[in-house]
Amino acid sequence: MKDDGQFFDKSMLFNKSMEYETVELDDEDGSIIIIDQTLLPGKMELIRLRTAQEIWDAIYLLRVRGAPAIGVTAAFGIYLLAKGTDADHYESFYREFVKQKDYLNSARPTAVNLSWALERMEKVCRENKGCGIDEIKRALKQEALAIKEEDIWVCKTIGEYGLSLVKPGDGILTHCNAGQLATSKYGTATAPIYLGQERGYHFRVFADETRPLLQGARLTAYELQAAGVDVTLICDNMSAMVMKNGWINAVFVGCDRVALNGDTANKIGTSLVAIAAKRHNIPFYVCAPTSTIDRNTKTGGDIHIEQRPEEEVTSMWYKERMAPEGVKVYNPAFDVTDHDLITAVVTEYGIARAPYERAFQEIFEKKERE
Ligand code: MRU
Repeated sequence: MKDDGQFFDKSMLFNKSMEYETVELDDEDGSIIIIDQTLLPGKMELIRLRTAQEIWDAIYLLRVRGAPAIGVTAAFGIYLLAKGTDADHYESFYREFVKQKDYLNSARPTAVNLSWALERMEKVCRENKGCGIDEIKRALKQEALAIKEEDIWVCKTIGEYGLSLVKPGDGILTHCNAGQLATSKYGTATAPIYLGQERGYHFRVFADETRPLLQGARLTAYELQAAGVDVTLICDNMSAMVMKNGWINAVFVGCDRVALNGDTANKIGTSLVAIAAKRHNIPFYVCAPTSTIDRNTKTGGDIHIEQRPEEEVTSMWYKERMAPEGVKVYNPAFDVTDHDLITAVVTEYGIARAPYERAFQEIFEKKERE
């Protein structure tokens, strides 16, 4: 059933929302169905994306967001765009494919999953060069669906590894939304929390609100509450205090790109949380699918940090503008947490600890073996 365009009022919202997939392909209709995350938690609306422009806008405007979910959307998107071309020769089909791929890839620069998923899709085109165009289109669909299916397994497995790092009753702090809404299921940083919830761990979770776009307040607090998790919302500048109060046993965050030396880019404010955690001797875990480890990026200094419009800081989400007109604004969407602040990087192929370059090498070897 594809009941896009359907709205749910607030009383129905908590039970309804997580029944829906973050990103879904409706091949028959030629569209991608997403939950418009800019409307949460007040309104739950499913929307359809059909054109390249609609897909690009949805990613840029954060209607769909979170590194893995962006990757899945891009994979479905490039498949649908390729399916829609009437090119009957490989050369013209491939030329058009690359043009659309580059366009989608330009929507957001920091989350490597976007280019990772598009590269995977392009590889399918190249590997099937000798086949007919219809065959390539079929293979592209299979690959896009596989990217989504894998994401579910990856998140669940990260959850199992993450759960092994904490104990029942622990206090967990998280930043931004690396939850179900950022992935196909479970989330990355929230996966240990969801698995713990299923197994009666009774975690006490603290969710940073995450200025300026409030992914923690609007999305993490919302989805954890919907799942019955004990979640407390705090402003970003309160994390050091809850740590000092002794309420936090571990921090779990997601990430958008991991460099080979273990530096990780994640939502702006993550590095401050890591610094506070270090001061309070609290383990700081980064949950990262191997698709988020960028073997072409040596250190955090090489990561392109997305800069976003100043309205996100001065007026968005507020009834009226809350900063003086004309004030200068600096609005990076992500920051880099240095590897020496990170206790471990939790992947679907195991837990990596410093020195990271070697640990990631072992993780990738294991991935290739299995
Ligand atoms: O700008 P966003 O909302 O896309 O940022 C999302 C994050 O920073 C997440 O922590 C990250 O993408 C990991 S999602 C599993």
